[in-house]
Amino acid sequence: MKNIILTGDRPTGKLHIGHYVGSLRRRVELQNSGKFDKIYVMIADAQALTDNFAEPERVRANITEVALDYFSCGIDPNKSTVFIQSHVAELTELTFYYMNLVTLSRLERNPTVKAEIKQKNFELSLPVGFLTYPISQTADITAFKANVVPVGGDQLPMIEQAREIVRSFNGLYGETLVEPKAVLPENKSCLRLPGTDGMAKMSKSLGNCIYLSDSADEIKRKVMSMYTDPNHLKVTDPGNTENNPTFIYLDAFACDGHFERYLPEYANLEEMKAHYERGGLGDMKVKKFLNAVLQETLEPIRTRREALAKDIPAIWEILRKGSEEAKAAAAETLADVKRAMKIDYFKN
Ligand code: TRP
Repeated sequence: MKNIILTGDRPTGKLHIGHYVGSLRRRVELQNSGKFDKIYVMIADAQALTDNFAEPERVRANITEVALDYFSCGIDPNKSTVFIQSHVAELTELTFYYMNLVTLSRLERNPTVKAEIKQKNFELSLPVGFLTYPISQTADITAFKANVVPVGGDQLPMIEQAREIVRSFNGLYGETLVEPKAVLPENKSCLRLPGTDGMAKMSKSLGNCIYLSDSADEIKRKVMSMYTDPNHLKVTDPGNTENNPTFIYLDAFACDGHFERYLPEYANLEEMKAHYERGGLGDMKVKKFLNAVLQETLEPIRTRREALAKDIPAIWEILRKGSEEAKAAAAETLADVKRAMKIDYFKN
């Protein structure tokens, strides 16, 4: 069996550091590992429209932003096929056939969909397109015969549902589709990076994100105003590192080299955490260190982003080429699916 990756993001805004540690960093590593036969990275504009159908211009504008974020983080168009979901019409057709294999109650039980319905106030008027997006996500994954899907923790229920659909399809029509597995970030802090305000999730509407495109000053300002341990009032007070976003960010970003360069009094994060927990380490010092770590990590990304942003037509040309290539691959799977379902009436 081939080793194929399919992954992607909704273009609803610029990507932030939660996306970076949650999946982007890992995707780049996997891309450069040389262990994969094909890598597809999809900008999920059609999925973004399921809850932004009134604002297609916004989705369109954010395709450019997400593509810039991808390429500046190291997604390499020579190694990965980066494409736009809506340009691959085969995905819609696959979705239509898969719809017969899923019940309404199963969709309503999907925890990610459930949470999003609440968050978007869709409880009273739920667009069918939104409710069914896990089915279209199954089409995205299976169209490319992907066995590996590197995503953030919130996407696990999607992959689970995709696996179920694949099993139903193969059970009914014969072994055709590949059952995918999710690849999650290596550490717990990366699974879901909290907002700078301590809220469970970074979200544009809460204004608690640090973006990959933020300037050095913006990063510093956001770090310096971060929520920490509200009971750590005096430097000498014992502090909590567990629900403290500054330490969660350090978990996700800091390595021993950062200590060597910016805070040599500790050998590693464990030593620093122990000091905070027993008291005597102030929030200001933690934030200064975190700022240094984030600046070092994000500076090269921002610089590449600024350079790439000078030629937007070149970005769209990469996406156009990628979309054509993706379309050809999806068409092969669609043909397999129709053959398996015996609806390939005019093929002899
Ligand atoms: N649901 C993903 C998000 O919210 C985007 C997405 C669409 C995706 N199709 C996918 C991710 C297939 C992985 C695989 O960002």
